[in-house]
Amino acid sequence: MSSRYHEVYQGWKSDPEGFWAEAAKGIDWVKPADKVFDGEAGLAGRWFVGAECNTCFNCVDRHAEGGRADQAALIYDSPITGNKRTLTFADLLEEVQLFGAVLEDLGVGKGDRVILYMPMVPEAVIAMLACARIGAVHSVVFGGFAANELATRIDDAKPKVMVTASCGIEPGRVVEYKPLLDQAIETAAWKPSGCVVYQRPQAQASMIEGRDHDWAALVETARTAGRKADCVTVAATDPLYILYTSGTTGQPKGVVRDNGGHMVALHWTMKNLYGVEPGEVYWAASDVGWVVGHSYIVYAPLLHGNTTIVFEGKPVGTPDAGVFWRVISEHNVGTLFTAPTAFRAIKKEDPGGDLIGQYDLSGFRTLFLAGERADPDTLEWAEAKLRVPVIDHWWQTETGWAIAANAVGLGTLPIKHGSPTVAMPGYDLQVLDETGVEVARNATGNIAIKLPLPPGCLPRLWNAEERFRESYLTEYDGYYNTSDAGYMDEDGYIYVMSRTDDIINVAGHRLSTGAMEEVVASHPDVAECAVIGIADQLKGQIPAGFLVLNAGVDRDTGEIEREVVGLVREKIGPVAAFKLVLTVHRLPKTRSGKILRATMRSIADGQEYRMPATIDDPVILNEITDALRDRGIPA
Ligand code: COA
Ligand code: AMP
Repeated sequence: MSSRYHEVYQGWKSDPEGFWAEAAKGIDWVKPADKVFDGEAGLAGRWFVGAECNTCFNCVDRHAEGGRADQAALIYDSPITGNKRTLTFADLLEEVQLFGAVLEDLGVGKGDRVILYMPMVPEAVIAMLACARIGAVHSVVFGGFAANELATRIDDAKPKVMVTASCGIEPGRVVEYKPLLDQAIETAAWKPSGCVVYQRPQAQASMIEGRDHDWAALVETARTAGRKADCVTVAATDPLYILYTSGTTGQPKGVVRDNGGHMVALHWTMKNLYGVEPGEVYWAASDVGWVVGHSYIVYAPLLHGNTTIVFEGKPVGTPDAGVFWRVISEHNVGTLFTAPTAFRAIKKEDPGGDLIGQYDLSGFRTLFLAGERADPDTLEWAEAKLRVPVIDHWWQTETGWAIAANAVGLGTLPIKHGSPTVAMPGYDLQVLDETGVEVARNATGNIAIKLPLPPGCLPRLWNAEERFRESYLTEYDGYYNTSDAGYMDEDGYIYVMSRTDDIINVAGHRLSTGAMEEVVASHPDVAECAVIGIADQLKGQIPAGFLVLNAGVDRDTGEIEREVVGLVREKIGPVAAFKLVLTVHRLPKTRSGKILRATMRSIADGQEYRMPATIDDPVILNEITDALRDRGIPA
């Protein structure tokens, strides 16, 4: 089939409001918009102003009432615990009505925040939808973050209630969440009035009287009392959720998602971008703690009447590198969306792809990758072994859906390895130099999106208007700065090569080296430090910390390095994967004192680099090279 992409993209460009008004017909509104787009509202305009709606209604009720009551809405498959559970749309509606009532009985109402700190269990999805149902704003915190990170989010979001589980399960260990939650609440200045704890058999959480409530008991009470929460009407521009993501400091950015624009954009993507029909099984192998989980485990598939998979496991080791193929064949998954790192892990364990042949994958049509740059090696391996199109697409927590992709539903364009293909309707992409002038095709620059951003993208940051402006809008007048660098070729294909800030991508997880530096610098023996992201065969990037110790410190450097590793794990969490620390005499700097992080990264990655003209003392680069070589870097 020839692609309709160019026609559709041009259609959007010539009438953006008409395009999104048409897409909005896929959503059930309580009241339609007065204005599809209001450029004067908010800092960068607002979509569907005046409209009223409820996201949970569109995800659940309308399917349960509209002929999909008996269709599976959610399949929970947990190879790590050996459990499976299917919830139809009717079941999901009942659970969400009950838990919505539980939250209301705890005093949660429209606009109140609820923080969820949950593993990959159906209750995480139920809690998110229950918040949406009653107009509350959820903020999900990934389970791999430590208590300190949770505390920062509690102080920023000021939740009325928190919802957690007794534990998450990682290979070989049970991660007890409740002690982390208790510690976070103790550290935070803001105190939520209640916590709901979902007890799992793998760990029993101890409860604090008066504050903590047992999930099962509350739901049972609500059921016995016949309590059911109704859908609360909210404005399309009201917040649905806050999702914290790494910024350049230890204070994460609270990305706000609205209700109306988010539904319209996500619903549009299911058919047009992912090429999926309602009723099919769609699987995003991610975690509800990340944006991919919000958009493509929870909201988009359910909005579109698809069955979503909640997978609690890893691509390898639960029990083997064939688990993805087992899930695809067992649940008849048509579309899989995951991060390239998952495929690198599978390829490492099963390079010949032998386990693939053990399963019937005849219903599997397309693999989508995102979260980090998809390296051509991994792409080629997946294409050769799976014999389906492998589609790289590029997006950010801030945008909530793909900026660039190969829209399968519009007819696939030729795939070019290394490129997530072309701008999606809604995004006018331009590659700019430092002065904001568009560079020539194939020349590298900063990738920017001409304002306005499409529906679904962040309209603001939570409680941080100035930071929103500074982070995204001030660098290039009239553009959103993606902080990604790359180039566009003569066919309009975009190549996303690296971040222009200190964000790194570790196993598809977005982390800030700046935040890690803040923690490392807090060690009493550390005089100064630098944390950089270096290339890693499995995780794409891993952090490497360089320490300069205070004069007079004569303790064993190995011991100090271990303490620093422990400190980052304790303050940020295991997800930081911060395990490599090197003690050096001094850090390479410019004459004005700026640490030459990019040059250090080139050395670690074994890349050619030009001696920076402003370097203070070139000899220090040799010292860094030697320190890395002692650790076998580059490999
Ligand atoms: N709760 C608690 N701890 C967690 C956690 C969670 N939800 N998720 C990860 N961790 C821990 C891990 O156990 C690990 O701890 P360790 O240092 O004690 O081994 C640490 O955080 C680092 O995790 P990760 O970077 O995920 O590495 P891994 O070795 O456990 O797994 C992969 C590597 C590639 C298999 C894994 O990252 C993966 O499946 N990635 C898929 C990509 C993905 O989901 N991306 C999200 C965006 S699409
Ligand atoms: P996150 O906010 O966690 O989704 O991370 C967003 C960042 O991940 C982007 O700014 C990119 O740097 C990177 N990223 C995501 N998807 C891709 C991709 N397909 N290709 C290259 N980089 C990507």
